[in-house]
Order: sequence, then structure tokens, then C-alpha cells
Amino acid sequence: MITKIIKVNPLNFTKDEIKEAIELIRNGELVAFPTETVYGLGADATNSNAVKKIFFTKRRPLDNPVIVHISDLNNLINVALEVPEEIFDLARKFWPGPLTFVLKRNPSIAPEVSAGLDTVAVRCPAHPVALELIKSSEKPIAAPSANKAGKPSPTRAEHVLDDFKDEIPLIIDAGSTIYGVESTVIDVTKKPPVLLRPGAMPIEEIMKYIGEIHIPEFVRGLGKFEGPALSPGLKYRHYSPEKPLILVEGEDKLNALKKLLEEYKNAGLILTKETANFFKDQKELIIIGSKDNLFEIAFNLFSSLREMDKRNIDVIIIEGVEEKGIGLAIMNRLRKAASKIIIS
Ligand code: TXA
Ligand code: MG
Repeated sequence: MITKIIKVNPLNFTKDEIKEAIELIRNGELVAFPTETVYGLGADATNSNAVKKIFFTKRRPLDNPVIVHISDLNNLINVALEVPEEIFDLARKFWPGPLTFVLKRNPSIAPEVSAGLDTVAVRCPAHPVALELIKSSEKPIAAPSANKAGKPSPTRAEHVLDDFKDEIPLIIDAGSTIYGVESTVIDVTKKPPVLLRPGAMPIEEIMKYIGEIHIPEFVRGLGKFEGPALSPGLKYRHYSPEKPLILVEGEDKLNALKKLLEEYKNAGLILTKETANFFKDQKELIIIGSKDNLFEIAFNLFSSLREMDKRNIDVIIIEGVEEKGIGLAIMNRLRKAASKIIIS
């Protein structure tokens, strides 16, 4: 199979330009497409065989469920059951957008999507190309991030191609995604709702509307997840480059970084603009953004990991950020990706 790439301008495209993608989804095939968070690897969520292709191609463990994408709030009842009125209200506020609800699964959705659970994760993405693909294929689209299991998520079409060249028929390339980290996932079958994955939508924003949300300790990405798998994906290694990744957290990052550079002579550094000022002589350096703009850091997070991974270095050293707003998602991803964490 040869992977075809269709380039579209997300602000000015026609349905006709993505006709082939619409046909592939309708025929039970895979299509990689852009969302506002990361690229997704999509298939018809009502077709078991199509959904199995996602797991097989991604090499995703079969017990890690995927998210279903819809284009319109009215379609929510075709994906989920017993949706509480307050969740419709919340969806009206936050959709289209990077917020995913875990709800009771409607039997029309292929059971493989939910990996055997009786729940389903669902969201309406805020990306014109994703919305057109879902609407015109007239299918809810199951889509995990379009990366090989365990690798950093894709924020550009070329990342998808790096992982799936000639393994999937089509990638829709609409340039960079907007947020750069995945959606926030909350389980609203529980009272109070439980945060399963921090993401692009800051939890502080959601709490303004539904009050208390339970934030389990594993959400910070610290330690290994143990106990019953609330969200089965939590127990697997995620987001990791091929090279070892050392994460530096804490109050005295400068000294910790200097020490690490004495130990590792051939390291690649990924630093904030502010910290990078102290490491101007470092050959392999990527500036990920400013400490004062966590959205910029989220936007560059996965692409920086992928880029540094390709350079001729032995180890990647990255600086942590503050766990507020989208910073909670950044630190969750980094702690899961890291092979070693230094608290300075
Ligand atoms: O932004 C996003 O959410 C991207 C784009 C493509 O929409 N998708 C994405 O999907 O990140 P994925 O499959 O990589 O992550 C889905 C997460 C996993 O942590 C999974 O365990 C959890 O959602 N999840 C899915 N269905 C669930 C369910 N029924 N119950 C609990 N957790 C669920
Ligand atoms: Mg993923």
C-alpha cells in the first residue's frame, strides 16, 4: 500500500477535496486526519472490522479504548446512552473543543472501540476538516492519536507519515494542529466526575461549570498506575522518543541541568527560552517556548521530542513546567514519556 497525502487549507477547502477520505471511512478503511489537539487515526466507529484495523496498525493493546468523534451534539445519543441533562449543557459550552466525556456506550458503537467496557469516550473536535469528514461520511469516527503505540503524538502530517508510511491509505494534511496535546478526558458516569486524562482544556475551566471534579493522583503522571484500570490506557508507557528522556523538575533546575551535562557529554537539551539563556553554548538545543506561555510549550512539546530524537545525540534532557492550566497536561505527558525524572 502507498500512503497518499491530501493537502488542504483548513480555512478554505471544499468537501470535494476530501472526497477520497470520506469514501475510505464509509468503506471501513483508515484515514489519518487533523483535529485541534493532535492528528487522529480514524475509522468508522460502528464497524468492528474497521476499528480492529486501528488497533492492529497502531499496535495498540486491545484493552486500551479509543475516543469516538462526532460532528454535532445531536449525534451524542447515537453514541452514548442515558446522557444526563447537565452533560448536554456542558457539551453545549465546550463543544466543539478538546473535552472528552466518558459515558454509557450505545450498542450501535462497535464493542472493540471500548475494549470490552460498557462505556464510551466521545468528543466533538474543533477542527473544520475533522468536522467535515465526520459529517460527510455520516459515521461517528473512532480515532486515537495517529502515532505508533508508545510514541509521541503527531502534531503534523509528517509525524503521521514517519510512523505509518505505506501502512495506511491516506493522510489529510492541514498543517499543524492548534493545541499540540490531546483532549481532556473526564468520566461523567461517576459522581463527582473523575478526571482521567488532563488535556488541552484546562480543568479549572470545566470546574467553573460542574463544580467538583475528582482528580486522582495518577493524573499528575507520577508513579506507576496501580489498582483497577479506571482508564486502561493509563498503565502503558506513552509519548516516548526512542532515545532515553530525562525530565528535570523542581526549584533548582539550573544546577541539575549543569550536573547532567557533565555526566552526559552528548545530550540534546529541550529548554524554555528563559533557561536556554544559560546554555547558549550547547550545540543540540531546542527552545520549546516561554515559561509565561504554557500554550506555546504544549504546541511545541511532541514535535520537539520527535525532532530531538532524530539528532545525533545519546540522551534527551527536558525541563519541566508549572502544573497549572494546560501545564497539568504537559507534565502528565512528560512524566509518562520520561525514562528518568530528576527532582531538583
Ligand atoms: O485529543 C484527543 O483526544 C485525540 C484526538 C485524535 O481526538 N485522541 C486521543 O485518543 O488522544 P487516544 O486513543 O490516544 O486516547 C484516548 C484516551 C486513553 O487514555 C483511553 O484510555 C481513554 O481516552 N479512554 C477511551 N475510552 C475510554 C473509556 N470508555 N473509559 C475510560 N477511558 C477511556
Ligand atoms: Mg494517544
